[in-house]
Amino acid sequence: MYVYTGISEAQKIGKYGVDESARLMKRLAYIYRRLMMVGAAHMPARMNWHFKAGLARHLFEDSHAAGLFMKRASELRSPSVQQLKDPDPWLALFFDELLMARSDYELWTGIYGVVRPELRRLLRQYAQDTQPLVDYPTLRAIKQVLSDLDEQTAWGEAIRPALLEDAAFFSAHRETYSIITDDESTAAVFCDELRKLLAQVGGFEGRALKQAENVPDRKRSQQKYNMPLRAVRDPRMGGDTLGRTGVANPPTEPELARIIANVRTRQEELGAAELCAATMVLQNNMPWSFYEDLARHCWDETRHTLFGQAVLDLGGYDWYSMPQFKGDYDPHMMKPVANSYIWLSIGIEGSAMRKDGMPKEARMLKAAAEKTDNEVVKLFAQCVDFDWADEVTHHQFGRKWAEELMDDYRTSERIANREMELNFARMARDTCSFWEDKPDSFNKQMFLNDWKDRLRPELLKELDERTLLP
Ligand SMILES: [Fe+2]
Ligand SMILES: [Fe+2]
Repeated sequence: MYVYTGISEAQKIGKYGVDESARLMKRLAYIYRRLMMVGAAHMPARMNWHFKAGLARHLFEDSHAAGLFMKRASELRSPSVQQLKDPDPWLALFFDELLMARSDYELWTGIYGVVRPELRRLLRQYAQDTQPLVDYPTLRAIKQVLSDLDEQTAWGEAIRPALLEDAAFFSAHRETYSIITDDESTAAVFCDELRKLLAQVGGFEGRALKQAENVPDRKRSQQKYNMPLRAVRDPRMGGDTLGRTGVANPPTEPELARIIANVRTRQEELGAAELCAATMVLQNNMPWSFYEDLARHCWDETRHTLFGQAVLDLGGYDWYSMPQFKGDYDPHMMKPVANSYIWLSIGIEGSAMRKDGMPKEARMLKAAAEKTDNEVVKLFAQCVDFDWADEVTHHQFGRKWAEELMDDYRTSERIANREMELNFARMARDTCSFWEDKPDSFNKQMFLNDWKDRLRPELLKELDERTLLP
């Protein structure tokens, strides 16, 4: 069909007028904004490595969906959507309760068992019922979001058995590990409560509460959600560190050993992603574009982590059994989060942009990739090429938000530089103490040489005198 540009049913009477469509778009924008924030709040708190990564990707996709629906609502004569208001206290309560999930699998049931399937149903229904020609821009937004939802729910089903396996393992080893887990039967309580609540408040469509006796109570959300002070890792990995520990089976050839050490550093960027997630949650009342930038930043740092993981796995280098680096999250949670975000985006990412930073690394790898058949080197060269592009964007985010957060850029820079010195001293201490008692090797000498000058006693003394995290 070529008439009406191929839009079928161009003459049907649709279910929605502008007012009703705008109302739904506002609700969808709110739902996706809250869903994004639930993902951000839980990403540092959840245990399963792959689940954390999926949460980061999906919170970015959720920010995109929220932006699309917000824009569409504003086109439908509702410019007030930009003010990020809560459209409905009952819908807010639903997300407050979802936020209080206590384990990986409980969160899974809430997001992938209730919210996403319900959103999929609602959006498919809308697409079917609306007038396809007059409401084309809404349909286009919905099509993009539905395509993400299809992938998200498929991924949710794929990771489900892994989370249940974790639950079975940790419940069988309660005396060794203090990880809270849920299985099908214990998570069903939380999941049923969410379903009941959603039905009670009229679903995501928001058929408003008609009867006063139906007004739901707060349950778990009578308490406040607290961001974890320490990022959670699977305790079956090699423990935590604030230093650089390389891989368990490093190559002996010096040039490749240096490259693999740098690949491991990429795999260790999850803490930076978690810091972005914490910034989204803890830095309130910023313009919407701040949260969009941070959602992107969070997913990018997770991608960098996955770059590292993919390259190490390709080469058979063991990163999983090694101590997991948390220097980009744990030590920074004792500061106002704006301070820590400035350290990351102005300090670390600013210095990565200097000539001797990523540009040098990217060029060196490109040259190495051209003269070798080693797929590990070729893949990593490509990763760093794109990583460098991402870091330029992140530093721009930092420049954009520093003044808003700290009043002026120079102060931000001074704070960032000081935090970098402290952080390097902390990293140097953990790096040197890790390598100290290891047998001599090229790898050991490389790490000790890289870090020995950063061991500054006056800074370490200052750090020791600070209030330590509980
Ligand atoms: Fe990165
Ligand atoms: Fe970055």
